[in-house]
Amino acid sequence: MRVPMIAGNWKMNTTVTEAVALVNEMRRGLDEIDNVDKVICPPFVSLATVRELIKESSIKLGAQNIYFEEKGAYTGEISPLMLADLCEFVIIGHSERRQYFNETGEMINKKVRAALRAGLKPILCIGERLEENEAGRTEEVVTEQLRSSLAGIDYPSGLIIAYEPVWAIGTGRAATGKQANETIGFIRQIISQKYGKKIAQDLRILYGGSVTADNTAEFMQQLEIDGALVGGASLKANEFLSIVKQTSEIKQVR
Ligand code: PGA
Repeated sequence: MRVPMIAGNWKMNTTVTEAVALVNEMRRGLDEIDNVDKVICPPFVSLATVRELIKESSIKLGAQNIYFEEKGAYTGEISPLMLADLCEFVIIGHSERRQYFNETGEMINKKVRAALRAGLKPILCIGERLEENEAGRTEEVVTEQLRSSLAGIDYPSGLIIAYEPVWAIGTGRAATGKQANETIGFIRQIISQKYGKKIAQDLRILYGGSVTADNTAEFMQQLEIDGALVGGASLKANEFLSIVKQTSEIKQVR
């Protein structure tokens, strides 16, 4: 049985003061919900402060990016060792990083390997662009992204995958539950071919892209979907709480 997960990706939002306020607003409510892994991913500069605020709670912490070298002359970068000291999860290969910061499959692979080496749990993001979707190339694209991101990794312990169709991110145009479920089922098959049935059955695969309190139920009712990576809606305490609460209720009765 896979424990569902809702991860909030705050992206480049919130000052430290705002992050503290947001955590204070959602901490108690989140802590009361069980049967779901509740993860928040604030900007790097707030990680240490947020960590203190949630240390007595069941809320878990993640970062939004990582560099693949352990230390050295890489001005401005954040290493796996630094993060392993602060948080449990790290988002890798988000489409915004692929698009605006030219991250390639090879870099993402190095980042996933470095995260696993440091004992971090990567939330690996994959997903097709609109034109790829319209050309019927979704399966081909996610297959290639999985191949390159997981190259040379024998055992993806702690790995989580987030299927995020690029056309659904921040656009208000979410995929349908059925579409997402089909692609996630396909991703699980690819994982099964590479790592075997047991690992594929245990691996959590999330949906991401314009998830809101209003459409959460549609996704969580799908058997292949193990949770969500939530952007915009994770910045509103009440909405995020509602997403987590609905997930807990729906997945519990399954
Ligand atoms: P969104 O972002 O929920 O704002 O669409 C999701 C994500 O980018 O992880």
